[in-house]
Parts: sequence; structure tokens; C-alpha cells
Amino acid sequence: MQKRYQIQFPPTAAHQLAQSEVCFNLVENGKSQRLRFHDYDEIYRRPGLYEQLFYNRLKCNSPSRVAEMLHRALATVREPMNELRVLDLGAGNGMMGEELKREGVARMVGADIIPEARDAALRDRPDIYDDYYVVDMTNLSEDDSESLAGWRFDCLTCVAALGFGDIPPKAFFTAMKKIRTDGWLAFNIKESFLDPTDQSGFSRLIRELIFSKYLNIHHLELYRHRLSMEGRQLFYYGMVGRLTESIPDDFLAQHGIE
Ligand SMILES: C[S@@+](CC[C@H](N)C(=O)[O-])C[C@H]1O[C@@H](n2cnc3c(N)ncnc32)[C@H](O)[C@@H]1O
Repeated sequence: MQKRYQIQFPPTAAHQLAQSEVCFNLVENGKSQRLRFHDYDEIYRRPGLYEQLFYNRLKCNSPSRVAEMLHRALATVREPMNELRVLDLGAGNGMMGEELKREGVARMVGADIIPEARDAALRDRPDIYDDYYVVDMTNLSEDDSESLAGWRFDCLTCVAALGFGDIPPKAFFTAMKKIRTDGWLAFNIKESFLDPTDQSGFSRLIRELIFSKYLNIHHLELYRHRLSMEGRQLFYYGMVGRLTESIPDDFLAQHGIE
């Protein structure tokens, strides 16, 4: 049976904090320690803690929702999921990989910046990924770059990992450049990304892509990503698009995005 953890939420209202600063208390062997939601290394080290916190308690359902949106987009154009060669960026302990593997994709490769994510994925879901890279996509070595290119990906997924101090635009862009020119993108992003007052790099990158000739949107849906600690609903957009042309290497610089 999966171990249950003693998780306690603090009295401070979490909506007063940036999402990356939200903390909880973990009580182990009678000792309480404060962890941030973004302390992924500590969270992944404990089997089942990530699932208990985000999926059971805070009702996150993004991997299944984004996988379903991708499935519907492909069904609309009568293309099978089972030929997809997927790069899952910010793969964590493999929640999205598990969803896509269930759909029968042909190749499933994970990438994350911390080794604890790969360790947890291999520990908890050993049969999901064909390979798993621990890399910083903003500073990819030539070897890793060539090795990733060798998979000939035609789909990039990125779930619950964009914005809020997670994956920066440059990392997403580098991963996107590893996808075939007619390949798919499936990801989620916070609710405000279409709002021009949201000037964060990632929101600007996605807006520029949407209105460029390089991407066609096949599916855009607002849905409940999870609950906050206060039980408030947090809405995200799920988006599925298809690349139409090779994006110039200097696309970020052209648009002043760092
Ligand atoms: C909230 S978790 C999401 C994990 C998984 N996609 C899911 O849906 O459960 C965010 C993940 O993004 C990873 N991450 C953060 N910054 C990153 C970066 N620059 N490059 C790659 N992964 C990154 C974190 O290590 C973490 O595993």
C-alpha cells in the first residue's frame, strides 16, 4: 500500500504569496519541516508525496486533461496517437508520461532540470519513458542536443511546468526546436496569458507564436487545473497547436523575449 504523509497547510493565506513561494509543512517522525511547492527535489525523493499533495489533496488533473485535448486534436485531423514521438519537458516523476503511454504513443522521452525527477520517474513509473534526460534546456550541450535530435520528435508536451518560475521561454523554445516542423505542441498555461498586461516572457512567447505563421491552434480550453490551498479553483488554459514552418532561431530576440 502507498505510504501516506502527514501534510499540514499553514495559517497564511496562500493567495498572498507568489505561486512558487507557497509552502506546506511535512511532518515526519514527529518533526515538522516547511517545504515550498517548488521544492521538487525534496518532494520527489519521497515516493507518493507529489501525488498525495497535488493530485489527491489539491485535485490537479492537468496531465489527463492535456492528454485528452491532444487526443481530440489528433482525432479531428484523423491522425493516430500511436505514431507520436513525444518529448515531455518538465516531465517530473512521469504523470504526463503515464497518460500518454496509456494512449499508446510510439516514443516517450522525458526531460527535466533536476536529477531527482528522473530518479523518481524511474523509481515510480519505470516502464513509461524510453529515455529521460536531465538537462538545462537553456544551456544544452552539443552531445545532448544531437542526442535529442536523434529521436525525431513530432510532439512536445509540457504540463504544469510553465510560468511561476519554472521553465523559462528559452528552455521551451529550445525544446520546440527539437520538434519536426509539422509537429504538435500540447501544454497548459495560467489563465492570464492572453491578457496583454501579462508581460511575463512565457505569456509573450505564446502570444507571439499564436499570431505568427509558425503555429496553428487546434484546441484552446479553459479548465480547472487544481485547487489552491484555500480551496479556490485555479484555472489554466490547455492548448494544442501544430507547427507549420520552421521557427527562426532568433525568434525570441526578434520579439525582445529573454
Ligand atoms: C509541477 S512539476 C510538473 C511535473 C509533471 N509535468 C506533472 O504534470 O506532474 C514542474 C516540473 O518542471 C521542472 N522544471 C522546472 N524548471 C525547469 C527547467 N528549466 N527545465 C526543465 N524542467 C524544469 C521541475 O523540476 C518539475 O519537475
